[in-house]
Amino acid sequence: MLTPPNNMPDKPFVIAIDGPAASGKGTLARRLAREFGYAHLDTGLTYRAVGHALLQNNLPLDDPSLAVKVAENLDLSNLDRSLLSAHEIGEAASVVAVIGGVRRALVEAQRRFATQLPGTILDGRDIGTVVCPDADVKFYVTASAGVRAGRRFEEIVNRGKQAIFDDILQDIRKRDERDQGREDSPLKPAEDAHLIDTSKMDIETAFQTAKAIIIKAKAV
Ligand code: C5P
Repeated sequence: MLTPPNNMPDKPFVIAIDGPAASGKGTLARRLAREFGYAHLDTGLTYRAVGHALLQNNLPLDDPSLAVKVAENLDLSNLDRSLLSAHEIGEAASVVAVIGGVRRALVEAQRRFATQLPGTILDGRDIGTVVCPDADVKFYVTASAGVRAGRRFEEIVNRGKQAIFDDILQDIRKRDERDQGREDSPLKPAEDAHLIDTSKMDIETAFQTAKAIIIKAKAV
């Protein structure tokens, strides 16, 4: 029988991070993954990859059978963050994300990812509520729509591109509405999630807050 090496736990420590667009959850997840040596999956990229594949082939985003086929054949080891981070791909992602069959296929792949030792961090919209309801620690990271739009605006301008703040704010509000209002797995905090509001908190403070909560949970 195979036994894990001495210091390797036999069960992964799973951290779930949810929150709306531009809340800072991705940055937090990446820093925590580095700190604890855990595998990290940005589940938004999985929805983005489905949207991108359809857009690229000039296929409609709202045809469930096409979108489900793409989702079922997605390779999680091949998600190109810089390619998929484009604004219009985020919009396409939130359109395909309302299709139940797409969610079922992606959730299955995300759950498989979560089983890696010694631990995993998944960030998204429904990790603590649907994908990993038994996660060891859950966070819900949020910030006001104005603060989140400001962050997106700065990101775009820093890349040397032009942006209109009001358009970004409107898109953020539209995306929140779509993510929070959909029937299947709407965005909402899990009952046992720790809330982190980054409206007035920098990433370092958010990181230290989350790290302390994780260390405490690991000691139990
Ligand atoms: O986080 P990101 O902006 O990359 O997500 C893109 C879209 O994918 C979200 O607006 C949401 O509609 C969808 N999504 C989701 N469930 C997740 C992650 C993302 O529905 N776990």
